[in-house]
Amino acid sequence: MKKVLITGGAGLLGTNLAIRLSSNFDTLILTNKRKINIPLTSSMKSEIFFKKNNYFKPDLIINTVALTDIEFCEKNPREALETNVNYINFLLNFCNKNQSKFIHISTDHLSNGSTSFIRENDALNPINQYGKTKLLAEKVVNSKISNPIILRTNFFGWGPLYRRSFSDRIIDNVKLKKKIHLFEDAFFSPISIRRLHKIILLLFREKKSGIFNVSSNNRISKYDFGLQLCEYFNLEKDLIIPCSIENAKNLVLRPKDTSLNNKKITNGIGFDCGSTSNNINDLINDLKDGIKDEIIKL
Ligand SMILES: NC(=O)c1ccc[n+]([C@@H]2O[C@H](COP(=O)([O-])OP(=O)(O)OC[C@H]3O[C@@H](n4cnc5c(N)ncnc54)[C@H](OP(=O)(O)O)[C@@H]3O)[C@@H](O)[C@H]2O)c1
Repeated sequence: MKKVLITGGAGLLGTNLAIRLSSNFDTLILTNKRKINIPLTSSMKSEIFFKKNNYFKPDLIINTVALTDIEFCEKNPREALETNVNYINFLLNFCNKNQSKFIHISTDHLSNGSTSFIRENDALNPINQYGKTKLLAEKVVNSKISNPIILRTNFFGWGPLYRRSFSDRIIDNVKLKKKIHLFEDAFFSPISIRRLHKIILLLFREKKSGIFNVSSNNRISKYDFGLQLCEYFNLEKDLIIPCSIENAKNLVLRPKDTSLNNKKITNGIGFDCGSTSNNINDLINDLKDGIKDEIIKL
């Protein structure tokens, strides 16, 4: 069985990937502050692994480590740099020694948000510390690893109780009859974690490399996304309240449009990333498969 090492193993994507990949791979997750036990996977603290490891030689490394709180990154640029960029240096040395395939999870927050559906080779101009450190991370990966895969993405899915996803937060609030305010003038093209996982497997199996946008086929406002979620889960749409990103003066500046052009991935591996509604429907498939139950127990 091939081996996969997942960093950020207690995070939203890390837990999901560990559960989903453990039937195909001998899986080891690296953790940081939060201790976690995921069925069929081993886990170890990052710092211990890099000091002691000489037995787990992964075929594939997936780096999901990041400080993802945009407000925190802005106030703490040094910590953002340390986690989002410098952590990679440990991984790169280890990766090169073992000749592992390296998949790095980047973001859709790399542009200034003035154009829709940006492509992989368009000029980038991140406008906050989170975006700046994530772009720098890509440069470090590209300069020090041969044939890495870098995925620029924005995703949603079922998260553990301690780490809710964007879709979880909407569903949780509305179920509790609480209003939730969502931007009607901020656009994105999020993909389900279910699809992102399949794309990761295909890219690895087909020995691809390069930068890929991984997104749904269309762009949607955060507000309309909330409405669509409510429609799928038969929840009260009136609790989704539209608001404007222009009025969010207390928030760190964010790009207004982070939608991605996904033609390269669609053509490259012959995978249909689907519409927003196809991706929301994946949440229901995750419910049917029991994935949600496995994640919520963590
Ligand atoms: N969520 C999204 O919609 C989204 C959108 C675009 C891009 N992304 C990218 O996707 C990746 C995964 O995101 P996510 O939402 O799964 O993030 P997350 O839930 O915040 O998980 C990040 C993980 O990184 C770990 N970590 C933080 N600092 C660390 C350090 N210094 N050393 C080792 N581990 C550390 C955290 O562990 P502790 O909690 O124990 O500290 C956590 O498990 C990130 O690269 C992010 O930039 C996410």
